[in-house]
Amino acid sequence: VIDIGALYKHSDRFTYDPGFTSTAACESAITYIDGDAGVLLHRGYPIDQLAEKGDFLETCYLLLYGELPTAEQKAKFDRDVTYHTMLHDQMAKLFTGFRRDAHPMAVMVGVVGALSAFYHDSTDITDPNQRMIASMRMIAKMPTIAAMAYKYTVGQPFVYPRNDLDYAANFLNMCFAVPTEEYEVNPVLARAMDRIFTLHADHEQNASTSTVRLAGSSGANPFACVAAGIACLWGPAHGGANEAALNMLTQIGTPDRIPEFIARAKDKEDPFRLMGFGHRVYKNYDPRAKIMQKTTHEVLAELGITDDPVLDVAMELEKIALEDEYFKERGLYPNIDFYSGITLKALGFPPEMFTVLFALARTVGWIAQWKEMIEDPKQKIGRPRQLYLGQTHRDYKPMDKR
Ligand code: ACO
Repeated sequence: VIDIGALYKHSDRFTYDPGFTSTAACESAITYIDGDAGVLLHRGYPIDQLAEKGDFLETCYLLLYGELPTAEQKAKFDRDVTYHTMLHDQMAKLFTGFRRDAHPMAVMVGVVGALSAFYHDSTDITDPNQRMIASMRMIAKMPTIAAMAYKYTVGQPFVYPRNDLDYAANFLNMCFAVPTEEYEVNPVLARAMDRIFTLHADHEQNASTSTVRLAGSSGANPFACVAAGIACLWGPAHGGANEAALNMLTQIGTPDRIPEFIARAKDKEDPFRLMGFGHRVYKNYDPRAKIMQKTTHEVLAELGITDDPVLDVAMELEKIALEDEYFKERGLYPNIDFYSGITLKALGFPPEMFTVLFALARTVGWIAQWKEMIEDPKQKIGRPRQLYLGQTHRDYKPMDKR
């Protein structure tokens, strides 16, 4: 019998809150979510306005500095990001050390963590200037790293960044240009890519952001912290859901099979869940999912894809689930991952790259949150408590007495 009272008599009181469903670990002025109303604001600005009227780098500036940039500030910010897009040439060798069939997220965790081995002059977290350089470097280099991870897995030569292109267009060029053919980035697709980045830019204290903050709370350098965030994002309950959602829609195949999968999702004996449905905070429609759905239609129209069976299944599944009591009672709505996989597939990315693109876009959120934490005078090392349920004191027994 464990005397819990005795075990904890020397401890302060604490709450036991698995999954941190009701524990705030920090104060933040970056992102606000009202899950019941389906509202997402960055520094007060609604996500739909930022995604539809602005561009991704503008949102990056807003998240980092707290205000929308003036034209002059924006031009300087774009130039500064562009200045840092190249990766140290020695880092290309890191990629070639991986198996060609490595998952690109495994490559991302390794290569991003290794940035701290190359950029020593921006790892002193006590220096605000170094913090800002590290931030710019990560926002700028993430597309280069993601594109190199992609090129390596498809066996094509790396394409260097082009500083005459904007952020999203440069990324598409690095992924899809080949030396043997003319390639021009389609501006409609580049705009869609940019919007997808904006939709993923930040989402307050989700699992990967909390991971970045926790890692950063020990004083670890920002490159190492972002690598930790990437590792956390990889899981199917978080960033891996877009890949899982597309796989599920493909597996369903035709609308007539939807009821079978809905029944499985409701069956508590079956571990199957509708991927791309449900959210810890949104118990109403995820505002990002609405813009994502619109973007999906725009991309498919631009590419002349008039009849996509996966999209047909997605639309029908959404319709059926939204009318189903099980999903209604639990507030389960499509989240951003439900439609993003279809769009990314149409843009030409294989499913293994979906979470990589999420990591690319979320980097600014991780960095803004990391900076906010470092600059908070109340900041302490993150150190959750536990509710110990194991053995109380007992004496070591020699092996012949066990
Ligand atoms: N399909 C079927 N049932 C579900 C689903 C789903 N996708 N999501 C939640 N439920 C049910 C649970 O079984 C539970 O039912 P119960 O009350 O009868 O036991 C209830 O809804 C509440 O679910 P929880 O797991 O307690 O909710 P939680 O907030 O912990 O989980 C999560 C949120 C992980 C997103 C969950 O909804 C899920 O697994 N969804 C599928 C994966 C997914 O799309 N993840 C992406 C998240 S968004 C993002 O990372 C960008």
